[in-house]
Amino acid sequence: MSQISHDRLLIIDFGSQVTQLIARRLRELNVYCEIHPYQKVTDAFLREMAPRAIIFSGGPDSVMREGSPRPPRAAYDLGVPILGICYGQQVMMQDLGGKVEAGEHATAEFGRAYVTPTGVASGFVEGWFDAGAREQVWMSHGDHVSEIAPGFEVLGTSPGAPFAITADQARRFYAVQFHPEVHHTPNGARLYENFVRLAGFKGDWTMGAYREEAIAKIRAQVGDKRVICGLSGGVDSSVAAVLIHEAIGDQLTCVFVDHGLLRQGEAEEVVAMFRDNYNIPLIHADEADLFLGELEGVSDPEIKRKTIGRLFIDVFQKYAGQIEGAEFLAQGTLYPDVIESVSFSGGPSVTIKSHHNVGGLPEKMGLKLVEPLRELFKDEVRALGRELGLPQSFIGRHPFPGPGLAIRCPGEITREKLEILRKADAVYIDQIRKHGLYDEIWQAFVAILPVRTVGVMGDGRTYDFACALRAVTSVDGMTADYYPFTHDFLGETATRIINEVKGINRVTYDITSKPPGTIEWE
Ligand code: XMP
Repeated sequence: MSQISHDRLLIIDFGSQVTQLIARRLRELNVYCEIHPYQKVTDAFLREMAPRAIIFSGGPDSVMREGSPRPPRAAYDLGVPILGICYGQQVMMQDLGGKVEAGEHATAEFGRAYVTPTGVASGFVEGWFDAGAREQVWMSHGDHVSEIAPGFEVLGTSPGAPFAITADQARRFYAVQFHPEVHHTPNGARLYENFVRLAGFKGDWTMGAYREEAIAKIRAQVGDKRVICGLSGGVDSSVAAVLIHEAIGDQLTCVFVDHGLLRQGEAEEVVAMFRDNYNIPLIHADEADLFLGELEGVSDPEIKRKTIGRLFIDVFQKYAGQIEGAEFLAQGTLYPDVIESVSFSGGPSVTIKSHHNVGGLPEKMGLKLVEPLRELFKDEVRALGRELGLPQSFIGRHPFPGPGLAIRCPGEITREKLEILRKADAVYIDQIRKHGLYDEIWQAFVAILPVRTVGVMGDGRTYDFACALRAVTSVDGMTADYYPFTHDFLGETATRIINEVKGINRVTYDITSKPPGTIEWE
């Protein structure tokens, strides 16, 4: 559990696919919340966390099933408001003396529905029904509540859910059959707003406050010891480094491993930014010869990745070993990486994704972790970066993979190909920026193909490399669509690349989405 001193809201996760969206909606209201799987939420956990309010998420199980997930009884005795959503609503009703009936085809309800008010006044639906006296919601349930628990009254109904919104107003327990957190419940945020207001949240979870608290926490954790931070030039590690530097100054040393697979001007930019601009002690580990030497002749994508990963750890360890008295390793781990997912098959087992390049290092080097972004979502990290004064050009950067250009150079990597790739990529990104498209695109880059093609330039024959342009839109990198550039843009860009980059005589545009493709070529 985190050491955040704000009022907190506990989301008990029963395994809904959209639990993270509840957290997003609450953070947008400047309310601090944490998601915990139901298996972990015991009486003792509740006492320690002392939440100001609780939300029961939806979930795939049926409350009719023996042994289905439950919140601890103590949740109802804390005297704090509770909001039950979908499965969470049914759990609440059953626990408090109502009845739930198993879903049959006729009563199951999936998709868009409309809820109308019953006329019972409640702060929970304040401002919600005003507009058209009928609100669109997203339903997704098999079972349904057939009898509400004593003390509850009905605030809203829908044709398929007579108890769409119910409340025990004395105890401040609210229950909805639909999902207010999803996009298809257009005004759902209003219900969360009402709920947190009724619970007395002040809405003081701001980036300014977070920054102050995070700094205090880092100081308390680290004391007078030294911290090492692996800097990649990406947003997460950059924000983590600047925040930690603000907290402990020169007790922080950053190590920037330059594997020779970075883009044009990238290493210089990172060094200028952190060493020259922020005065952060920075070791620039220029190890291009080592990486490119070991990668010589390697064309298998998995062997490339493994080689880079192994060398990265060796190099990082070598440089970090030179920093005397280092006891901590900083990482830019984010909240989605640490949310423990609900596992129905394996009991209270959890899956935690370990973070990219330095995974395994802390144990190997006997270092403790400093992870000041653990409570934040990606867009909140960007907001924190802005709060810390990092330039927008840095904060808004497209993601760049740890193995760098190696996975944009299918087949064997040579210095010649890397040089051509860097130049082509720079022209392509320049085009995207000039046309004002950079921020609309999740990620854009050039891949140099392991194939030479014949062309004609002036009066001469050319025999040069072909390249592929890639640009995708995405929310989280898990799925992606290719970006629909205009033909004019593509034509202009191809002409510029062929004219300005010696070594390329053919340009293609990759229109594969993910799935079935991946974003990177390897
Ligand atoms: P794929 O190619 O799997 O990529 O669709 C999804 C996102 O992840 C990035 N990526 C990586 N990032 N280390 C990283 O830090 C890696 O090994 C790695 N491989 C892919 C990729 O750039 C895209 O944003």
